[in-house]
Formats: sequence, C-alpha cells, structure tokens
Amino acid sequence: MDAKYKRVMIKLSGEALAGEQEFGIDPATVQQISESVKEVYVHDVEISVVVGGGNFWRGRQGFGMDKSTADYMGMLSTVLNALALQDALEQMGVPVRVQTAIEMKEIAEPYIKRKAMRHLEKRRVVIFAAGTGNPFFTTDTTAALRAAEIDADIILLAKNVDAVYDSDPAINPNAQKFDHLSYLDVINKGLKVMDSTAITLCMDNDIPILVFGLDNPDNILRAVNGEQIGTLIEG
Ligand code: GTP
Repeated sequence: MDAKYKRVMIKLSGEALAGEQEFGIDPATVQQISESVKEVYVHDVEISVVVGGGNFWRGRQGFGMDKSTADYMGMLSTVLNALALQDALEQMGVPVRVQTAIEMKEIAEPYIKRKAMRHLEKRRVVIFAAGTGNPFFTTDTTAALRAAEIDADIILLAKNVDAVYDSDPAINPNAQKFDHLSYLDVINKGLKVMDSTAITLCMDNDIPILVFGLDNPDNILRAVNGEQIGTLIEG
C-alpha cells in the first residue's frame, strides 16, 4: 500500500513511554511504540519524531521554581526519552539519528536542519530532542517548528485519548468527538489539543495535525495511510 504522507512528524508525549507505571521509561512500551514506528518506516515513509519529557519532569510542577529552570529540566528529560527510543529502534535495525536543540555533542549531534534533511533522505529516522532549546516553548511547539523546517506533510499527534472531544470523555460520557476541526476551531473553542503557540505555527504554515490514540499499535501506520482515525485539524 502506498502511504498518503511521505514525510511525517510523529509527536509522542513523554507519558506515552511510561506505560502503566506513569513515571520513567517502561521498556516494553518503548519496544511496542518502536515497532509501530518501524511498521511505518518499512513503508518508505520519512520519519521524524519529537518526544516530550513529562514522564520525568513536568515544566510547571509549581513549587515556586524559576520557570526557565523548570523548562530546561524538561528539555533535558526529552533527551532521556530520545536516547531510549533511538536504542530501541536501532535494536530493530532501523537507523536513527538524534539531534539536540541544546548542544551536548558527546551525547548526540546538534540540531542542524540541512543535516536532518539529509538523514531523512538517507532513510534515517530523526529524533529531535531538547525541545526548541528555549524555555517557554512546549514540545508540541517543537513538533510544529521542526515540521515546518523540514517540510513535513503532517504532524501525527499521538495521545492517550483516541481523538479530540468537546469535553473530557473520561469524565463526561456524552462528550462529543470531532472528526475534523479547523485551527481556529481549536483556538476559539479552547480545546486542549496543543498549546496556542503550536497551533498558530501549524496554521501559519499549513501543516495538518492528526490527533489519535496509541491504544491500537497499528494507528501510526493507519494514520500515514490516510485512514480516517482520530481528529484531523487543518484549514
Ligand atoms: P552521513 O554524513 O550522511 O553519512 O551521516 P552520518 O550521520 O552517518 O555521518 P556522521 O559521520 O555525521 O555521523 C556518524 C555517527 O556519529 C552518527 O551516529 C551520528 O549520529 C554521530 N554523530 C555525528 N555528529 C555527532 C556529534 O556532534 N555528536 C555525537 N555525539 N554524535 C555525532
């Protein structure tokens, strides 16, 4: 089957790597996610990944810490996740390059857009770590920024819910699921999909976002093949 999207940005939350344990890295979960990524990789899709760090550190933990310091700690936690993903994918035979937005050359190569593009062309998965390198920006914004820079066809926003709803489906059994939304709908309805910086960056650069759940391991492949899953945000 021919993939609908040829170059994708997969955004994974840090929590997605923690599995049931909710903190740190669950090896079986990382393995399962990596298998899902490999399924897409073998379909000749160019894959970039941004991973969050919330399984180690949430930027706004609220005990009076300086915001920038808290955000830098969050950026470092994304590096732990990127290295774990790199390792799992490489053990499956998928070539990976990690690039960090904050230079830490002994650990990974620094983010260089042109090098990232070459890696993608040479069929390497590129994982962008350490956020944008700046405090006050989320990893969702990192995904939007890198997707714009590398000209990705779509952002695949893997969540722990299967789509965007008008209220929390875990609390409200009558929550309404959206199949399609515009960027402005997300902003105007105050839907908690991505932060507003990330959404407007996608809007300004015409990058569609597909929000879906990782409950089904085939969902990343289904998303890349253009199947109607989750919620598509565009236009
Ligand atoms: P090509 O030039 O396209 O062949 O890419 P390549 O990534 O295979 O070649 P390169 O010689 O740049 O990198 C070889 C290995 O070293 C890869 O695993 C890179 O991720 C890694 N690498 C490259 N630059 C750095 C760096 O600055 N720091 C660290 N830690 N690793 C690096």
